[in-house]
Amino acid sequence: MNFATILNKIMVSLSLLTKITYATDSDSSWLQAQKLMSGMTKRIDPISDSSLYLGDAYGITFTIPIDYLPEYEKYKFNVYWTDDASIKQKELYDLLRDSADNHLNVNATYTLMRNFLYQEYDFPQNKKLAFNYIDKFNNMTNYSCSETLFHQGVMYMTGFFGEIPIDEAKGLLFIKKSADLGNLQARQTLAYKYLHGINVPRDIEKAFLLYHDIGNELKSRYFTEYDWDVVTPYIEGYNIRLPDFDGGLLDPELRQTGLSTNRKKSIRPDITSSVLTKMSSGNIVLQFGDIGESSPFAINGENDDSSDQLVDIFYAAWDEFRGTYTKERNCTRAIELLQLVYNNYQDDVPIMDNLQKFFYCNSLDLLGHLYFTGDGLPDCDIDKAIFFLNKSKHLLEEAPSTLVSRANIDLGLISQFYSGNVSQAITYYQSAAHIRTNNGIVEYQLSKLSELMPNGKIGDPFTLMKTANWKGYNPAKFEFAKMIEKSARNKYDSADIANIYKKFVEASENIMAPYLRDAFSHLLMGNSEVSLWYYTLAAEQGFEAAQISAASLLYQIPYKREELPITPRERQILAAAYYTRAFKQDNLDAGVIAGDVYYNMGDYEKAFTLYQGASGRQSPQALWNMAYMYENGLGTPKDYFLAKRFYDEVYLVNKKLLLASKMSIWKLQLKQWIDWMNNGKDTFWRRRWHRLCFNVLRVKSYIQSWFTPTRLAHKLVVQNEGGDNDKIYTTARRTIDHKVGDSDIGSGDDGSFEILGFTGQDITSMLVMLLIFITIVVVRHMAIRGNWNIVINGVRINGGDNNNDNNNDNNGNQNADNNDQPRPAQNPWGNVDIQIFAI
Ligand SMILES: *[C@@H]1O[C@H](CO)[C@@H](O)[C@H](O)[C@H]1NC(C)=O
Ligand SMILES: *[C@@H]1O[C@H](CO)[C@@H](O)[C@H](O)[C@H]1NC(C)=O
Ligand SMILES: *[C@@H]1O[C@H](CO)[C@@H](O)[C@H](O)[C@H]1NC(C)=O
Ligand SMILES: *[C@@H]1O[C@H](CO)[C@@H](O)[C@H](O)[C@H]1NC(C)=O
Ligand SMILES: *[C@@H]1O[C@H](CO)[C@@H](O)[C@H](O)[C@H]1NC(C)=O
Ligand SMILES: *[C@@H]1O[C@H](CO)[C@@H](O)[C@H](O)[C@H]1NC(C)=O
Repeated sequence: MNFATILNKIMVSLSLLTKITYATDSDSSWLQAQKLMSGMTKRIDPISDSSLYLGDAYGITFTIPIDYLPEYEKYKFNVYWTDDASIKQKELYDLLRDSADNHLNVNATYTLMRNFLYQEYDFPQNKKLAFNYIDKFNNMTNYSCSETLFHQGVMYMTGFFGEIPIDEAKGLLFIKKSADLGNLQARQTLAYKYLHGINVPRDIEKAFLLYHDIGNELKSRYFTEYDWDVVTPYIEGYNIRLPDFDGGLLDPELRQTGLSTNRKKSIRPDITSSVLTKMSSGNIVLQFGDIGESSPFAINGENDDSSDQLVDIFYAAWDEFRGTYTKERNCTRAIELLQLVYNNYQDDVPIMDNLQKFFYCNSLDLLGHLYFTGDGLPDCDIDKAIFFLNKSKHLLEEAPSTLVSRANIDLGLISQFYSGNVSQAITYYQSAAHIRTNNGIVEYQLSKLSELMPNGKIGDPFTLMKTANWKGYNPAKFEFAKMIEKSARNKYDSADIANIYKKFVEASENIMAPYLRDAFSHLLMGNSEVSLWYYTLAAEQGFEAAQISAASLLYQIPYKREELPITPRERQILAAAYYTRAFKQDNLDAGVIAGDVYYNMGDYEKAFTLYQGASGRQSPQALWNMAYMYENGLGTPKDYFLAKRFYDEVYLVNKKLLLASKMSIWKLQLKQWIDWMNNGKDTFWRRRWHRLCFNVLRVKSYIQSWFTPTRLAHKLVVQNEGGDNDKIYTTARRTIDHKVGDSDIGSGDDGSFEILGFTGQDITSMLVMLLIFITIVVVRHMAIRGNWNIVINGVRINGGDNNNDNNNDNNGNQNADNNDQPRPAQNPWGNVDIQIFAI
């Protein structure tokens, strides 16, 4: 052994030693970090513990910043670590960074990724770092973690909101890899992409197979036989569109899509609903005690026969039973409340009026249902369930009432699965088939029974299952898809079946996208970017509602007097893409909004195409926008003739829009005239009319918004949970008010300069409004002299010749029908219906 070899050996063992030291080092950093983390709060969830979040009396609100400036985010991040971070946080960051960067600790890398992506341990979000760490993590784990692969795939697909370049090929590769590893979310994403041909060529068969497999896997892995046949587990759904908290994407009269927010805290019952008015021949006056959600028991005592209290307790219990968006369900508490109803009111039944009785029966029904399902109890209690359900049924269906109790459904299930009396079960089911609260379970059970007993005269199993699917009962979706797959496949194509499986898969949101709940929870905490990321995952998976939510977090259509959001173009494009995808999934309103996003981006051709798509399906707002595009030659050659036709159609689709439509046609004719005067040079008028006329449909609230204090701040999406009395909070901040690098960043500009000073555009609009008023006055004057057929605020103006009324009406109808004809010279505007808004 020569000296060199000895030296070499020493060197090797030395290097081994250093390696070992490294390893212990790494462990120590990670170990310390772990110790530190165990003493810190990882994350706050206001939904499971509402005391953590604003025990406020103002109703629960969330805000979405309008603007997004990447530079400002970066600045904020740096400021956070120099000024605001706690000592523990700084220490944790250092330890994790050391462990991850210097010692390649997988778990530290993962933790850092989560901290920067999901704001765990109250870290501020940093997309660049989050991406770096997820990339590193996937590399370290040799691309074997299906969840993080899926996430990185989505980052590539979307460009992570402008943080990295979009790379569809890479994104697809990651998602496919994740799907190969069995990840349900990745498989669902692929299925959706194949079904709609997004990022991949459309391939219905592939989509069908993927959805089919996921559906089967869900059924076999997550549903017991009891779950499937008797009681499907209750899901506290968060598959919602955020704008629906604020009334939907479009104004109520223009909206074509129903609201998705059906678990909001109960408000007072709608006394005009048919059920209730039927009960007391329309003469119901409901009054409600001032009972906060915190103290439903406080009503014990004084007038305990008041129907108000009964109704209030019922709704309190109902909210506990189903859970609201801001508070988890608590069936134990629901049972307590309902038992209270039973104990306190059972003696009053003979003297109850119909309304009290209705709510009393509903309370017993719900109580029986809870004993039947066993939610909130150690175990179900069938005897008690039968007792309450039977009582509720008989009391409600007592003559002369024609109501049918929902309790029949549970009683049917009990007869079938506990007493084994199938004929009795069928009687129960059939009596409950037509009530509103039948979610399809009746037809589902009948269909199954009919298959077992082909001679039972129950009905055609296929038709029954079809109805059950249509009514939305979840297992029925799966079974119906199976049925058509097996037998009548010639009548349905693969896309139909894929779509039914898709609905089934999406209904299991607690498995497929549990983060929909997290998205909302983070939103309540003000972490809108975390929320955006979660909604984006679900949006990629094909959840229509999540597409709207993600899009609205990326880009809110400014309406009323707000300015366009200031946000990177990448985010605008992604928002437009998600609105468009939602539109392709049958959300008509989203088509209009997608068009608006493109319009605001100056891409009139795309806007025009989208408006055209939605107008083809009779969306009044889309028709309106089409008219506008034709009128101004945006995205299409200018065509007054077509513009007028679309304005007419707006009115045909929705009669309430008569005024707006007529006013626009009137304006159009004025413009035509001016064009003629100007030899076609219309830029002067276009500029002035532009802003106002595009908003004519909204002009009323537009004007009100100038003077309503709550509108003066930038009101965003507001969840006004506790009914009308709650105040609306507006705390949004336009990040644009802050200049990056300025010393007074964060000094809380509340946008007051906008409150006081109207922008030039507003003044133009006001002047135009003024002009309209003057014109109306003049027109009115002329009308009276010239005996034209003009209606102002529903009052006909005519030159004092009352005998002409009928003739004028006839002329009116003719004119409406022959709108395409040139006007007679003496009546240049035809019939004009003018309504002057109260200002
Ligand atoms: C990382 O976490 C996993 C799972 O919790 C654990 O099995 C593994 O030992 C951890 N690795 C290190 C280096 O701490
Ligand atoms: C991880 O990244 C390094 C550096 O880019 C590369 O050399 C290595 O092959 C990657 N590991 C895997 C498993 O791909
Ligand atoms: C990484 O994965 C590839 C296949 O994906 C495999 O061939 C390779 O051996 C793995 N490497 C390690 C270090 O596990
Ligand atoms: C549910 O309500 C019961 C009774 O009011 C209460 O004891 C329990 O703590 C509640 N559970 C949760 C999770 O809030
Ligand atoms: C159901 O209620 C009716 C009327 O109150 C009663 O006659 C009947 O015995 C009850 N049936 C059961 C199974 O409790
Ligand atoms: C099933 O219930 C009906 C009443 O609906 C009763 O007449 C019949 O005897 C019961 N059958 C059995 C097997 O219990």
